[in-house]
Amino acid sequence: MSEYKRNIVITGGAGFIGSHVVRLFVKKYPQYLIINLDALTYAGNLENLKDVESAPNYRFEKGDITDPKRLDELFSKYSPDAVIHLAAESHVDRSILDPLAFVKTNVLGTVCLLNVCKTRWKDKYDGKLFYHVSTDEVYGSLGKQGFFTEETAYDPRSPYSASKASSDHFVMAYHHTYGLPVVMSNCSNNYGSNHFPEKLIPLMINNIKNNQPLPVYGKGENVRDWLWVDDHALAIDRIFHMGRVGEKYNVGGFNEWKNIDLVNLLCKIMDKKLGREPGESAKLITYVKDRPGHDMRYAIDATKLKKELGWEPSLQFEEGLEKTVDWYLANENWVRHVTSGDYQLYYNEQYGKR
Ligand code: NAD
Ligand code: DAU
Repeated sequence: MSEYKRNIVITGGAGFIGSHVVRLFVKKYPQYLIINLDALTYAGNLENLKDVESAPNYRFEKGDITDPKRLDELFSKYSPDAVIHLAAESHVDRSILDPLAFVKTNVLGTVCLLNVCKTRWKDKYDGKLFYHVSTDEVYGSLGKQGFFTEETAYDPRSPYSASKASSDHFVMAYHHTYGLPVVMSNCSNNYGSNHFPEKLIPLMINNIKNNQPLPVYGKGENVRDWLWVDDHALAIDRIFHMGRVGEKYNVGGFNEWKNIDLVNLLCKIMDKKLGREPGESAKLITYVKDRPGHDMRYAIDATKLKKELGWEPSLQFEEGLEKTVDWYLANENWVRHVTSGDYQLYYNEQYGKR
């Protein structure tokens, strides 16, 4: 018998959102054992979890979710009663360069996890839960009006979103076919500390700081709905504990920004922080070839989550962006480590030809 009230496997806990979820659960629930299962791909970084690595209720297990043997070993060692599944290939641009990697981790990996839960829990599902963390991108692209609700039909348009949509369908299929207790959330764009600098906000912060061109795709008119990463972690906490089994919940920031307006705001914040003349950083903005199949607008209607579970975003965007910039300026070593080696190869492949 475990000395802990619950044993919870969090997959992808060394990544951007996963590390915030792990930290929240380790600190808030000393009565839970938190097992972080992560393959440590280019996007996984144990430096993200330095502050909790020696907590008594935290364990790290290196492992790949596409490896059924490794999953079985892990379940045999810890007998977890819940899985919070965040491990994924998560970057749209990389999915355009290499779709198969996304099918492997996001589809096959999710099905391997569902299988080990089904087999190990042996249909004794009382008190068990498989929580699947997904994205608003499965709903496709909006025009100027409207919002994604939980009823919006799936219409994925990039290899990344197609792989996430497929994994969402498998999760629901295991619920309907085998009775596996599942819950799912579909979230909008996150931002905050420990965000890998291949994504818009950290890439722009890094390039502004280093006086490098700021590559804005197309005309910069695409709209994203930004949410502070710790608010997403709090939503996951709420849904994990109070969400209805078999349901899905949309999570969003009620915070839409055109890319170009967001990049200009970042330039303004960084001019101040770096002691530059107003307008100096914005001179680095460079319009580059658009992302193929670039979704125009995402906007989440998170009313269900607010009404049923009382969750709302806590942080204003401009305050969150300032905090994010401060974190990147104070953590140069972190940035240096993650942008050395393979990052340069990726960056040249992605931006060299634009
Ligand atoms: P990330 O790329 O920063 O981290 C992914 C983590 O998964 C890394 O630690 C990586 O090492 C690990 N991983 C990758 N392949 C693995 C495998 N085969 N086995 C085990 N571990 C593996 O991703 P993120 O941005 O933190 O996103 C986490 C989850 O949230 C993903 O499922 C993503 O689809 C979803 N999501 C992300 C956002 C966002 O804005 N970033 C928004 C909504 C939903
Ligand atoms: O909506 C949720 C999704 O948000 C998550 O599921 C994904 O995991 C996450 O990566 C994110 O996807 P996006 O494609 O929206 O994020 P990204 O940061 O790559 O791009 C945000 C917007 O900025 C998008 O319209 C493309 C644009 N962009 C991005 C980069 C990297 C640029 O204009 N220039 C860039 O260099």
